[in-house]
Amino acid sequence: MTERVLTGDRVTGKLHLGHYAGSLENRVRLQEEYESFVFLADVQALTTHFEQKDLIRSHIHEMTLDYLSAGIDPEKSTIFIQSMIPEIAELTVYFSMFVSVNTLRHNPTIKAESKGQGLDELYYGFLGYPVSQAADITFCKATLIPVGDDQLPHLELARKIVRRFGELYQPILVEPRALISNTPRLVGTDGNAKMSKSLGNAIALDSTREDIAYKIKRAVTDPARVHKNDPGHPEICPIYAYHRAFQPDALPEIRQGCERGTMGCSACKERISLTLEQLIAPMRERRAYYAGKPKAVEEILMSGTQHAREIAKETMKEVRAAMSLDYFDLSARERRVL
Ligand code: TRP
Repeated sequence: MTERVLTGDRVTGKLHLGHYAGSLENRVRLQEEYESFVFLADVQALTTHFEQKDLIRSHIHEMTLDYLSAGIDPEKSTIFIQSMIPEIAELTVYFSMFVSVNTLRHNPTIKAESKGQGLDELYYGFLGYPVSQAADITFCKATLIPVGDDQLPHLELARKIVRRFGELYQPILVEPRALISNTPRLVGTDGNAKMSKSLGNAIALDSTREDIAYKIKRAVTDPARVHKNDPGHPEICPIYAYHRAFQPDALPEIRQGCERGTMGCSACKERISLTLEQLIAPMRERRAYYAGKPKAVEEILMSGTQHAREIAKETMKEVRAAMSLDYFDLSARERRVL
């Protein structure tokens, strides 16, 4: 069976190396083999950023450039905007009838993301975003969802919703499977467990050579290495994590140099800067190409969204019939009025 792969990203900021290592690189590979969908989750971004519509709007453009520059090929992947597929919102409403509040309150990712906030103060849309995510996945009957492990509870819910929908109505939807990325989450340049733009510890995909060198130069390393030939502890060093993620072949040698104190931190940093520059340089080139063609980029988004919309309409026809909501067909009438 051929798989239909789907993933999305909240439209809240530029993408960085953490996204690349954890997900984008994988998507670029998967599009060679499978039918692929990549979408800009602007509605999901609204769950936390509903007061920042301008930010979402500007990031639609930036993130599309991020996708294209990272190697998402519009000839191979359908790129679309979530809010432009109203069928997703419709499907979310139907699903929400049979998902309990308790299920959502106990979702570990929702819990973690709302830490510090009493569950009772949660916004309805935020609490329910996993339901909306199930609609993102099922409207196009996606089968394979490449995600990090924080998304697993959402995938489990999507599977449960598909089964329940099948029991209640008709088994027309498809249970998705998670494709777990085995790359560990990329640490930030400050040693924080998560690389994140809001923490200021990220290396963006549109970095210049100078940006990369600067961020790497300022990155923390093993604090035990005061002098160049002090023995180091690679496991606690973000730079070592970057070597692991982006040039695994060199790992044994780098580990040895660090542990034996024969390679100092600045030499080690220069090596990773060079590797990252080699990774990002072609992205920069593709970015410049697309940034100079805003009409072409818009066309990519429009045709991807149109393709997704056609699939969504087909699925909703089936969903409405299964739920006995197919009272009549207005399209013929609308045409007559015109
Ligand atoms: N919640 C995902 C994230 O934060 C984004 C997302 C929205 C998604 N809908 C999806 C991922 C559907 C996979 C499938 O990264």
